[in-house]
Amino acid sequence: MEALGEALLRVKDLHTSFFSGNAEVKAVNGVSFKVLPGETFGLVGESGCGKTAICRSISRLIHAPGKIKRGEIHYRGAEGAVDILRLSDEAMRRLRGREISMIFQEPMSALNPVIPIKTQIYEALDPKLSKKEKYLRSIELLRLVGIPSPEKRMREYIHQFSGGMRQRVMIAIALAGNPRLLLADEPTTALDVTIQNQIMLLINSLREKLRMSMILVTHDLSVVSQMCDFVAVMYAGHIMELCDTVTLFAAPRHPYTYGLLGSIPREGSRRLESINGAPPNLADPLPGCPFAPRCAFKENRCEGELPDLREITPGHRVRCFFYQKLDGLEGFIDQQSRQQSQAPVEQRYLAQEAPRT
Ligand SMILES: Nc1ncnc2c1ncn2[C@@H]1O[C@H](COP(=O)(O)OP(=O)(O)OP(=O)(O)O)[C@@H](O)[C@H]1O
Ligand SMILES: [Mg+2]
Repeated sequence: MEALGEALLRVKDLHTSFFSGNAEVKAVNGVSFKVLPGETFGLVGESGCGKTAICRSISRLIHAPGKIKRGEIHYRGAEGAVDILRLSDEAMRRLRGREISMIFQEPMSALNPVIPIKTQIYEALDPKLSKKEKYLRSIELLRLVGIPSPEKRMREYIHQFSGGMRQRVMIAIALAGNPRLLLADEPTTALDVTIQNQIMLLINSLREKLRMSMILVTHDLSVVSQMCDFVAVMYAGHIMELCDTVTLFAAPRHPYTYGLLGSIPREGSRRLESINGAPPNLADPLPGCPFAPRCAFKENRCEGELPDLREITPGHRVRCFFYQKLDGLEGFIDQQSRQQSQAPVEQRYLAQEAPRT
């Protein structure tokens, strides 16, 4: 299908809202991006900016009071290209799990506490497999995600697993249908730092091994620098900056990206200060750029008009009238870390962990 080009997934002008009484929270407000085959696409931004709403829209798991209002989500499935938002419920059920899988923020809310994990893995497997094949494949999956004694553990319930092991179980279930696109929504937030690194490494090695594409939602920019090829920086339901990862760190051009990267330069002083203020109320949006109230570079125009997401150099898009004010400011990546970001992910994590001892 023409809409997809070389992409595996293309989201076009997606609008998803949550309704409460007369209020409409515009969680996703006209978002467009594409994910290429084998690519890891990062979605970053502060809490409440719409990252989970995008993932749930792609897998059509937005429930009342939420609604996907409009947009297109083109996906190249095994049986050809489809627009996910126009599939029947039955066709979507087949796609979900089989082709597009999601690892949720909180495994306990995504897994059933009263059913042994074996049954939950079986449900995610191809129904055409025999019972014996399902058993063997479940063991293989649990081994793949690093769960010891899978024959015994698959008869257990999720509360019998530690936090890290629960996340591994969820990854095994997400992989059961051999998906081509994995939506990993902050897959490690509930875990301690050492386990977080282990799970990230695991996800990444499985993604490479199984040749999946991934949308990775994270607050953690070091994870972005190490795992993502392309990144969308979200703010208040909008993409503010969209580019490859090296550009994001070397030459960010949206003031919010600067803020997210840890510090924001003030005009005049060029001194780095931390970003002030809080995200806007999505139920009562301001007419202009949603970041304007917190922006060190704003001018009158910013408060009355929302800038477009403009391509400023090939492949680098920024939603800011005054992005050129950031020209000449240092990026956040030095030569050493840039070289590191091109090394295999295992080496990068080892390099990162070394100074902690
Ligand atoms: N079920 C819901 N009912 C009402 N509002 C919701 C619901 N889910 C999300 N929202 C609202 O939609 C907006 C986007 O939420 P979303 O969960 O997508 O944010 P997020 O970027 O994933 O945040 P976090 O980093 O905290 O997970 C928020 O303002 C949130 O309050
Ligand atoms: Mg979320």
